Amino acid sequence: MAKAPVIAVVGSASMDLTCYADVLPQAGQTLYGNQFTTGFGGKGANQAVMAALAGANVYMVGSIGNDLFGKSLEENFKNRKVNSEHIKISDLPTGVAHIWVDAQGQNRILIVPGANHDFNESHAAQAVASIPELSIVLGQCEVPQSVTTAAFVAAKKRGAITIFNPAPYQVLSPDLLSVTDWLIPNEVEFEEFVGAAPTSESLSQFRPGKNSIVTLGDKGAVLISEDGALTSIATTKVQAVDSTGAGDCFIGSFSFAIASGLDAKSAAEFACRIAALSVTRKGAQSSYPTAAEISTLS
Ligand code: RIB
Repeated sequence: MAKAPVIAVVGSASMDLTCYADVLPQAGQTLYGNQFTTGFGGKGANQAVMAALAGANVYMVGSIGNDLFGKSLEENFKNRKVNSEHIKISDLPTGVAHIWVDAQGQNRILIVPGANHDFNESHAAQAVASIPELSIVLGQCEVPQSVTTAAFVAAKKRGAITIFNPAPYQVLSPDLLSVTDWLIPNEVEFEEFVGAAPTSESLSQFRPGKNSIVTLGDKGAVLISEDGALTSIATTKVQAVDSTGAGDCFIGSFSFAIASGLDAKSAAEFACRIAALSVTRKGAQSSYPTAAEISTLS
C-alpha cells in the first residue's frame, strides 16, 4: 500500500452553531426555524478532517480555547485521526460560527474568531519546519495572514507545496501571494480578488505563471494552468440541502489527491465528486463522506 501523504493545515477550528429555516429573517424580524445543530467546523479544521478522511496523514496547526468547545474540538481531531500536537490551548474562547441555512441549502455565516487569532508566526513556522515528510501546507483566511505567510515561507524552504483558499475573502498581502503555489477561491472570492466576474478572459489572466482553481458551486470548477490555459471540471448534479463546508471539502480532497501524485485535472474531478456528495447532507464535517464512500468515488 502507498504511504499516506503528509499534509499540514494552518488554520481555524471552530464550533458551528447552525439554525435551519425555510425563510431567513430580515433585520428586526423574528421567525421560527426548523432545526438547530452544533457541529465541528472552522475552514481549517474542515479541510484537515476531509484530507484525513481521504487518506492523508494530517497535522492541524492552530489554536483553540481552554473551554468545553475546545475540549470537544480536540476530541474530534483525535476521533478523525488528525494530529493535534501543534494546536495551542489559548486563554481566549474557542472560535464559533453562527450559521443560518435556508430551504435552498444556501448559508449565511457570522464568525467570532476567538482563539483562532491567538497563535503567532513562530508557532506556525516551527510547526511546519518540524513535521516529518511534509508534502503540502494549506491555509485560509480565518487566521492572521502573517501567520499563514510564515508557515508558507517555512513550507517553501523545505520544498512543500502551498495551497491557499482565500475564504472568507480579504485583500491578500503580496508576501503571502508570492509563497502561494495554488490559489483556490470560489467564484465570489475570485470576483472580489480581480474586480470582475469569472469569464474566459478574466480567468485566463489570473495569476500568470502560477496554478489556480476557481470553484463554481453546482457548475463544478475551472482549472487555470500557469500559462493561462483553462480546463473545465464538471460536477455531479445533486439536490443540495446544505452547502456549508463544501468548499473546504473540495480543498481537503484536492490536496490529498495532488499529494498522492494525481495530475491536477484528475485531482479536481475527484474533489468535485466528493464536494457534490457533501452538499446533500447537513453541516460541515458531518456532511463529509466516510473512507468507504470515498473509495467508491475515486
Ligand atoms: O466553510 C465553512 C465553515 O465556515 C464553517 O464550518 C464555519 O465554521 C465557517 O468558518
